Amino acid sequence: MKTVEVRHPLVAHKLGLLRDAATGPALFRQVVGEIATLLAYEATADLALGTRRIDTWAGPLDVGRCDQDAITLVPILRAGLGFLPGVQVLLPSAPVSVIGLRRDEETLQPQAYYQRLYRDIAGRTALLIDPMLATGGSAIAAIDTLKAAGCARVKAIFLVSAPEGLRALEAAHPDTEVWTAAIDDRLNDHGYILPGLGDAGDRIFGTPA
Ligand code: PRP
Ligand code: URA
Repeated sequence: MKTVEVRHPLVAHKLGLLRDAATGPALFRQVVGEIATLLAYEATADLALGTRRIDTWAGPLDVGRCDQDAITLVPILRAGLGFLPGVQVLLPSAPVSVIGLRRDEETLQPQAYYQRLYRDIAGRTALLIDPMLATGGSAIAAIDTLKAAGCARVKAIFLVSAPEGLRALEAAHPDTEVWTAAIDDRLNDHGYILPGLGDAGDRIFGTPA
């Protein structure tokens, strides 16, 4: 499975802000958005580039035009919503499909509770958006859904990934392409990433457990 750990100094700096337990929801959301933009920039490096003709002050010119119609952005609710605006900075016209999954904290299995995929999703590249890849269960369930709907290709961006989640994702969907700001050490006994960020959804939405 193609897996890119983005080692840009700005990403490392911003991730350090997120790892700081003293960082509250407002700054956390802002920085999550900034890293989302940086990861999306990396993940879209091979975006199809066409041309369109414009009139410039010096006459007609063919200029680059990215085809956002070939993509759908797919945040996994809830925490993926915090990641979405940073991706939309770069892809403002890409249609959004959402998949609601909540991890059962006892079994660590994802429970599906909502889904609204863009009607014209078949054949598109899905850009899956979630801050955390822990056991991998949520991402695998989401990609099962996207492939069943006919997505031609799945790229995924995660803030922090656990090695266990990457292995599980590779076993289930080896054709997925992953960009992540960090591959951390391991999961703890409750399925949380170490050192990780804690509960990303709770920190984004200001809902401490
Ligand atoms: C978090 C996170 C992922 C999932 C990762 O969501 O945003 O979706 O856990 O865990 P996994 O890889 O073990 O499946 P959570 O289920 O806590 O829901 P939330 O986004 O509503 O907070
Ligand atoms: N979900 C989170 O938000 N954080 C983790 O470390 C694992 C799952």
